[in-house]
This record gives sequence, C-alpha cells and structure tokens, in this order.
Amino acid sequence: MLKPKPTSGDSSWFTHNRFGMFIHWGLYALPARHEWVKSREEISDENYQPYFDHFNPTLYDPQQWARTAREAGMKYVVITTKHHEGFCLWDTHYTDYKVTNTPYGKDLIAPFVDAFRAEGLHIGFYYSLLDWHHPDFPIDVYHPLRNHPDAAEMNKSRDMTVYAEYMRNQMRELLTNFGQIDELFCDFSYPDRVYQGLPGKGRADWESEKLVKLIRELQPKIMLNNRLDLPDAADFYTPEQIQPPSWIHINGQPVLWETCQTFSGSWGYHRDEETWKSPSQLIRMLVNTVACGGNLLMNVGPTARGTFDQRALDALAVYRDWLAVNSDSIYGCTQSEFTAPPDCRLTQNGKKLYAHVFAWPFIHLLLAGLTDRVEYAQFLHDGSEILMNAIPDWQLEHMQIPQDTLVLTLPIKKPNVVVPVIELTLK
Ligand code: GLC
Repeated sequence: MLKPKPTSGDSSWFTHNRFGMFIHWGLYALPARHEWVKSREEISDENYQPYFDHFNPTLYDPQQWARTAREAGMKYVVITTKHHEGFCLWDTHYTDYKVTNTPYGKDLIAPFVDAFRAEGLHIGFYYSLLDWHHPDFPIDVYHPLRNHPDAAEMNKSRDMTVYAEYMRNQMRELLTNFGQIDELFCDFSYPDRVYQGLPGKGRADWESEKLVKLIRELQPKIMLNNRLDLPDAADFYTPEQIQPPSWIHINGQPVLWETCQTFSGSWGYHRDEETWKSPSQLIRMLVNTVACGGNLLMNVGPTARGTFDQRALDALAVYRDWLAVNSDSIYGCTQSEFTAPPDCRLTQNGKKLYAHVFAWPFIHLLLAGLTDRVEYAQFLHDGSEILMNAIPDWQLEHMQIPQDTLVLTLPIKKPNVVVPVIELTLK
C-alpha cells in the first residue's frame, strides 16, 4: 500500500471517512446563476446590494441539512463561511457585510456547526482569500472592477496589508468561536495571473506564513488544504472538477488528496444549470476517487430560501441508497495493492478487497494474480456467494489466461445496483 506524505493536522478521520459534503452558500444564491456572478457580470457593489437587502432564508433548517448529509453517507462537511463575494455567514466583528445585518438577521454558522456535529459529522470551513467587497482588496484579474478605466488608480488607496490582517482577524474568530474545526479550505492563489498590469495574488499578498502559523496555533489538529501558495504547509491537495486517474503525487511523493465536485456545473445554487450528473456517474466518481487513494467532497448549493433543491436531494438519495449496502467498500478503504480488471475499480481495507464493476461483463470476471489468494467471494449488496474458479477445464483452455488468474462466475444479468461491488476476503 502507498504511504502518503505525513500531515501536520490529524488525518486519521480524513482518510477513514472518504466522503464529505461541500456547501456553497451566500448572496449568490439569489441571482442563482453561479457563485462567480459578481465577477463574471462585473457587477458593482451598488448593483450587488439588492441580494444583501433581500437575503432572508427563512426555511433554513440546519438539522435537516445535517440529517440529509448523514443519510447520504457523508461523514464530514465543509461550508463556505465567506466566498469571493466577501459576504460573511457568521457574526464577525470585522465587517458589517455579514448575515446578521440582512433581513434574516441571525448567524448561520453556529447553528450549522451544532447541527452537523450532533449528526456525528466532522466540521470543515471554507474561507475565500479573494474578497470582492473589502475596500482594501486590490483590484485584480478576477475582481468585478478589473475593466474599470481607473482600476490601477483605485488600487493606490487599497492596502493589502490591511486586508491580510482582516483575514487573520476573521480566521481567529472562525477557529476560536466554533469549537474544534477539522478541516480548513482556503481558496485560492494565482500569483502569476497578471491582467492589464494588475498583478495576481499569492503567499506574499495573503501573508500566508503568518496565516498558517495562526491556524496551526489555534487548531493544531486541523487538516489544511493546499491553496495558500505555500506547498510545505499543505496537508492535502484539492484537484477540482476532475477525476484523477491515479494517486496524486507532489515532487514524486504520494500525498493526501480530496477532489471537490459539483452535482452540476456550479458551486452556488444555479437555477437554470442543466448538466446534472447521472446516478452512475455520481457513484463511479466516489468509487474512482477512493480507488486512487483520495476523498470526495461533493457540493450542494442551497437555495435562497435555505433549502436543498430537489435535484440535489435526488442526487444525494443516489449516494444514500448505494452506500446503505455498499459502504464497506468506501469507509476505511484506499487504493488496492492489486491491479483492477478492465472496467473495474479496486479498493482495499486490509484483508478485504472490493471489486467495483463499472461495465457488466458476460459471466466471468478475471482477476490477475489472485487465484489462490481469496478465501471467499460475495456480492456486497446482498451477501450472495460468487463462485470462484468454477469454470470447466475445456472453457478455461479456450480462455487462454495465465494460471494465477482468479475466475469469478457472475450472473448474466447485472444486479439492480448502480455499481455492483464484489467483496473478496483474502486468505
Ligand atoms: C474555485 C472557485 C470556486 C469554488 C472552489 C471550490 O476555485 O473559485 O467558486 O468555491 O473552487 O473548490
């Protein structure tokens, strides 16, 4: 088994749990056309203000969210405490641009943390390094005012050191006021993105070293991501909206990683987005991730009312139903030491080997090098036996396979499970 680079934070829960819920929630739920809407449409503060003035998610029920996440098999959660728009979901002392000043008038984060903890989930915070509202955040390539004719001039009065201190102050609140925080997802760095003379931002701008020192001081166990432009400080890597085909390596060394994904093409609630993934894709993404030694953080973008959209609930139900019978092949599992047959993914947990069959073959599944190594084989979903090496000699001859191949005999019809899993108990 691969041994990933050791972490500064406590990775024990992280590598066991494998599957978490990402939540992107903010003012952008109101325009409902992507969390980057302020940047994409170059909206001024003034024209973005109606979303603040109308933010009133009266149906917000964090207990219900937490129950839904737990039932979907998610073992941890990461919520946007502040996204790039700068709006804060908690009652911070350092800005008025926060939920308690909207018509809703109440902190969203404290009840959230309580509710998810009560359901047994580990808690993570997402914190945006970018801030398209803070008056000291210099205008850059992603800022809504990037094409303003006076952008460079306006930057002269913006003081990044003031903003960096603001971030440290907020981080102190987030990592002090809500008990133990298990994961921190800072987002993101782009030091080389120069736009019309406006520089990008990286470790020198965020003052990443100071920020990390503070984070480690306040929450020594926290698992910190890799987007602060400070590679040595990262506990885990965050491939986004892709499915890595193999374990992520940095400088030749395997590292812990967590891929974040959306149900459709937006993180924030997007009313008209139609690229929702199929049940089969959803399950295969989870399986493929664990088979490559990673975690999956699957995103929900709650609506402006404070609810999970029906399409998100349907997608979560896919995970719920599949994990209800197949979770042994996910929790506590990692990449297997064995090679997967075509159209399959293997995960392993000690003596248990799990073959996930992505495309249903005709009768036989062939596992290289395993013929004498397996004690018992069964479907995970119904515990029914799968016969091993039960193929007649003449057929075996016709097959022309190496002698050490384990031959499993499968039913002709694929069982009624999105992705069937075969559990092999090794000798
Ligand atoms: C990105 C995007 C963003 C999203 C995040 C999730 O960097 O800026 O909107 O929050 O990735 O990983």
